[in-house]
Amino acid sequence: MIVRHSLGEYPIEFCDLEMAVGGLPEDRVIVTDENVSTAWKRLIPVDERTIVLPPGETTKSLTWYAEVVRELARRRCSRKTTLVAIGGGVIGDLAGFCAASYMRGIKYVQIPTTLLAQVDSSVGGKVGVDLPEGKNLVGAFWPPTKVAICAEVLVTLPPRQFANGMAEVWKYGFILDADFVNRLSRKEASISEVLRHCIELKAAVVEADEFERLGIRAKLNFGHTIGHAIEKVLGYEEFLHGEAISIGMVAEAILGERLGVTAPGTTEILRDELESQGLPVEWSGLRDADGLIAAMKLDKKASSGRLAFSLLTRVGECKLIEDVPESDVRSVLSSL
Ligand SMILES: NC(=O)c1ccc[n+]([C@@H]2O[C@H](COP(=O)([O-])OP(=O)(O)OC[C@H]3O[C@@H](n4cnc5c(N)ncnc54)[C@H](O)[C@@H]3O)[C@@H](O)[C@H]2O)c1
Ligand SMILES: [Zn+2]
Repeated sequence: MIVRHSLGEYPIEFCDLEMAVGGLPEDRVIVTDENVSTAWKRLIPVDERTIVLPPGETTKSLTWYAEVVRELARRRCSRKTTLVAIGGGVIGDLAGFCAASYMRGIKYVQIPTTLLAQVDSSVGGKVGVDLPEGKNLVGAFWPPTKVAICAEVLVTLPPRQFANGMAEVWKYGFILDADFVNRLSRKEASISEVLRHCIELKAAVVEADEFERLGIRAKLNFGHTIGHAIEKVLGYEEFLHGEAISIGMVAEAILGERLGVTAPGTTEILRDELESQGLPVEWSGLRDADGLIAAMKLDKKASSGRLAFSLLTRVGECKLIEDVPESDVRSVLSSL
């Protein structure tokens, strides 16, 4: 599969981890985390060309960014060095931002190891770190030179992390592809089919709107306006991202039905599927509408205080609605 972007294109290869690591250039530095390095020590070499970081969102910070780029300098990495991210979205976003800025940009290969990173963060070129003031506030569009998808790495992924990625998988189906929802529902889609299909869907969207200016890429935000607000008010604890957007998708489907945008009955189908995936679909804190709405208005995607949502029209279709009245959002949240 090839993804085209403004600076060129990159391939997405489906292969096993041994092959992906074996095919890396000699002049490279691998960035990974302790969990991935331990789980896959047989295949990921830990030597002077590897940087192993602590796991978790706190690693996606300016502190660790500085640590990694300084380490590249200490190891005398040049413009020809390739940075390789082997890990989840945290490692991918952090290493990608290091690659985007070290010596004004070096090559960057992604080998994502969580389902979420495989179907979402590794494709599309968004890289960056969090600030204490907010998530993803510093970053760049820096496309990788290659992405390798190795399905077998998912065998060591904890079940909760797998379900976390499945929230994004269901999202792709609900916003873009009703047939895919049916196949997922009947458990007919193998994991390699799920990976390939979601990546194809994401790649098509980012090719059509690389820099999120045309309202096409913003469609991927279904469930995220409320989901991000939940994460923010909880200080990014309690729920994983996919769990927060699972709750967000259900709440936004209810909002869509209330506004007459979403076909009646869609919420029920969505809720059932997410629940059988083991994902949360409600949270008592939703009733604190004020806190959530304040968080939504601060989101960097909200333009001048307006509330924008990607809402389902029916299963497999969505549209971007800007300027959703705050009163409707408040009523929906208060009713949950
Ligand atoms: N760039 C983008 O477009 C984009 C899109 C979505 C999310 N993100 C970012 O991605 C990050 C979340 O990514 P994530 O959910 O992958 O989290 P993560 O990178 O923290 O990984 C989750 C956990 O799983 C462990 N892990 C990873 N692979 C494993 C494996 N194969 N076996 C065992 N354990 C493994 C990690 O060590 C970690 O503890 C967030 O920072 C989010 O902002 C970026
Ligand atoms: Zn997401």
